[in-house]
Amino acid sequence: MTQTPGHVLLVGTGAYYDNVRRALQRLGVASSVICVPSSLARLRPQRDHQFVVCTPDKEAWIDAAAEIDRSLPVTGLVCLVDSLMVHTARIAERLGLPWHPLEVAATVHDKYRMRARLQDAGVRSVPATQVESEDDVRAFAERVGWPIVVKPVRATGSLGVARLDGPDDVAGVLDRGAQHLHVAAAEPVFMAERFMTGPQFSVETMSEDGAHHVVALTKKYSDPGTLVEVGHSLPVVLPDVERVSLEAYLTELLDALGVRFGPTCTELVWTDDGPTVIESQLRVSGDEIQSLVERALGVDLIDVVVRQAAGQRVLPALRDAPAARTAAAIWYARFPAGGDVLDVLGTDEARAVDGVVDVRWTVEPGSTLRAFEHYGDRSAHAVAVAPDHEDAARSARTAVDRLGVAISVRPQTATYV
Ligand SMILES: Nc1ncnc2c1ncn2[C@@H]1O[C@H](COP(=O)(O)OP(=O)(O)OP(=O)(O)O)[C@@H](O)[C@H]1O
Ligand SMILES: [Mg+2]
Repeated sequence: MTQTPGHVLLVGTGAYYDNVRRALQRLGVASSVICVPSSLARLRPQRDHQFVVCTPDKEAWIDAAAEIDRSLPVTGLVCLVDSLMVHTARIAERLGLPWHPLEVAATVHDKYRMRARLQDAGVRSVPATQVESEDDVRAFAERVGWPIVVKPVRATGSLGVARLDGPDDVAGVLDRGAQHLHVAAAEPVFMAERFMTGPQFSVETMSEDGAHHVVALTKKYSDPGTLVEVGHSLPVVLPDVERVSLEAYLTELLDALGVRFGPTCTELVWTDDGPTVIESQLRVSGDEIQSLVERALGVDLIDVVVRQAAGQRVLPALRDAPAARTAAAIWYARFPAGGDVLDVLGTDEARAVDGVVDVRWTVEPGSTLRAFEHYGDRSAHAVAVAPDHEDAARSARTAVDRLGVAISVRPQTATYV
């Protein structure tokens, strides 16, 4: 294998750190990492990297990157963490490296700025406004009609996102949202936008020199109350007319946002007017979608990202990739009650479901189960394969339905009057 020389700087570790590290090693590319101290435990021994800089002061990251660059010139950047895209853009500016311009990173990362940009560019979107009070929320809904969605402009995991069907739902919506955000330590700046009706999808794209390629289309399934994603299945194979319409929309969208290279994951609703964006991010999707893509399509998206950062062209091989070898799906377990976990049940029965290839728990005897409220409370998942993505989803869901948890519940701390 020809080795690609170079020195890639990874900004933030994120969910894909191990995949990135393996891809860098396969390519024989030198690497360094800048991250926060809480990521240090995940880093492999430092000998895997040239330099590791670890500080909570992200302002200091820019100088640290320049220092690394002086010692061993950095030739490419990888960042797969939404909240670090802007920092990465600043590092790229300082080092004179190709990356999304600051303006692009900041616009994509802010759901309100993204909507404003799309509106200016004439790309299909929904009416949206920033809201600071419940009066703002009511006034917006009266203008565009119910239902609406209220959500933080910058957050993830559906934290603080709420669907409001009428004026009775407004009371407390911003306070509850801010409480959820406390979990994610994001700043409580909220927006409202029109609720879109229709099936929801997420799309993995890879861009190069301003050209965009759709790698995978995924159907997503959400909990109607919390809007948290509970399942994903792929690949969705569209009739030609719809496929062309989707590709044209994504090209318009990514061009308007100024994306010219790298991965993007875009969530959208297929409304009566056609595909319409919920949000787009400058990374590969989370929720194991990357591994579903690899399983079904044989494409390792993280490897593609790392190759591009190392200076290789990646779009020709993606365009020539063979057809899907199977369909794959993941389904997450939600438990309505929480407590101390005594035992996890049904794992073997779940594994016995036709097509199921993996069943995993994130809780074990002795740990605490939280009643399902947000995405971090999904306590187990099943992955299944089948010739068709909907059958794969059905199998994964059937497997999850066979799971159970034995918990012991303590009495509430009593309040006496
Ligand atoms: N305008 C909308 N119309 C319909 N559904 C919406 C809208 N906005 C958000 N949703 C629903 O709420 C979910 C969460 O919203 P959004 O993706 O904006 O937040 P998030 O915090 O980034 O969530 P996640 O990280 O789970 O994607 C979406 O996946 C979708 O199901
Ligand atoms: Mg989302």
